[in-house]
Amino acid sequence: MQTITYIVYLVASVLFIFGIKKLGSPKTARQGNMLSSIGMLLAVVITLFDQRVLTFEYIIIGIVVGSAIGATMALKVPMTGMPQMVGLLNGFGGGASMLVAFAEYYHILNTTGPEIEVATSTTIVLSVLIGAVTFTGSLIAFGKLQGLVTGKVVRYPGQHPLNALLLIAILVAGIMVILDPGKTDLLIGIGIVSLVLGVLLVLPIGGADMPVAISLLNSYSGLAASMTGFVLQNNMLIIAGALVGASGIILTIIMCKGMNRSLMNVVLGGWETAGQGGAAAAGGSEVKGDVKSVDAEELAMIFDAAQNVIIVPGYGMAVAQAQHAVRDLMNVLESKGINVRFAIHPVAGRMPGHMNVLLAEAQVPYDKLYAMEDINDDFPNTDVVFVVGANDVVNPAARNDPSSPIYGMPILNVDYAKTVVVNKRSLNVGYAGISNELFYYPNTLMYFGDAKEAITKLVNELKEL
Ligand code: TAP
Repeated sequence: MQTITYIVYLVASVLFIFGIKKLGSPKTARQGNMLSSIGMLLAVVITLFDQRVLTFEYIIIGIVVGSAIGATMALKVPMTGMPQMVGLLNGFGGGASMLVAFAEYYHILNTTGPEIEVATSTTIVLSVLIGAVTFTGSLIAFGKLQGLVTGKVVRYPGQHPLNALLLIAILVAGIMVILDPGKTDLLIGIGIVSLVLGVLLVLPIGGADMPVAISLLNSYSGLAASMTGFVLQNNMLIIAGALVGASGIILTIIMCKGMNRSLMNVVLGGWETAGQGGAAAAGGSEVKGDVKSVDAEELAMIFDAAQNVIIVPGYGMAVAQAQHAVRDLMNVLESKGINVRFAIHPVAGRMPGHMNVLLAEAQVPYDKLYAMEDINDDFPNTDVVFVVGANDVVNPAARNDPSSPIYGMPILNVDYAKTVVVNKRSLNVGYAGISNELFYYPNTLMYFGDAKEAITKLVNELKEL
């Protein structure tokens, strides 16, 4: 049985690795999900049949209840709510790792006594620490994104010394448990203080930076699972946890690079006024001037005269759920012989791949989606760029204004096109909380309105031409 278990674990691990690889491209992402799910099913089934599992009743009840809750949540959550759902699920992963570590600790104490190997007691302590921090940290992240906890950057006197003190206390207590594993109270203490630390570490981070924090917590939940794998001496859990840990940290780095910010800047609450402040509050120059706005009829004529169009989606498209209207626009433009492509910024929206997922849902072909580096040089040869609910990712201040908080962030060079049309509801700021000089450029036209309504109107006008 043991050999079969190992072989199945190996197959499941290979499926996980190929699954993650395939998730790297929208074309193969569904296949990747399927491969990883099959890997997970194999891993769960073989673990259940492993002789250590004594009763199936609780497991079946758990699977039924958990699947029902998970499926309902996944079906109900809107795309804009996805980051907090991922955050919540991460948290449960961390909490589970902590509970399993405690359970295994008591199991060892009750069966073989307090003579626990150093390697095992070390991983128990680490599982409890990382699992607990991930659990409460993720709950706070969920609360911030859901509006249940303040989304503001929270600062109080002695914040960093207090966190450092708690961490030192945990480490000292951890070493004592490792040296003398019979100290049950100390391990419980580590768990409680780690739960508090999770709250204190995530509370200061501004609500707008939560997606990065969630990605980081995702990485922690993988580490916690991996540690628990060492505790249980389960190779599958070690590999799966390590994969989550590594991919979570890679994702976090990609997000930080896309915003040209350091992880420290995010974790310490860098963009204080994000999403609420405006340039004056967040830094950067205040932009003033006249904007030119167009209505649907005028815009339809501008599009009708174009040969090349690039559509740049942003967070506003997700808010308005305008992806189907955008697809209709693509279809009507193509029916007029116009070449339509999409330019996707790596941090457009609020989570990695946000725009790709929405456009894929609306059946926009993958080969029309271009990553920033593949399309940025084409803007000067483009007749019309249509920016749909994007703001920061097309803000030229990132190139021109060294005082801007987003200075240095790579952007889509939409302003180099012959005509730029920006669709949003107002001149309001985006995520970074800074004004956008693009709206005042001579080649920019503003098309105000909710993306879904405004684009539907535009499509109707185009059909009538
Ligand atoms: P943002 O800069 O956040 O701008 C979105 C714009 O959409 C807003 O200015 C808003 O303007 C408009 N909008 C909102 N609702 C709308 C609606 N119903 N119809 C039309 N427009 C609407 O978006 P972006 O350009 O996609 O940039 C993303 C930002 O998020 C970046 O700063 C990035 O660093 C950050 N971020 C991204 C990620 C990932 S991984 N994607 C993670 C963390 C942070 P109005 O209010 O005037 O309509």
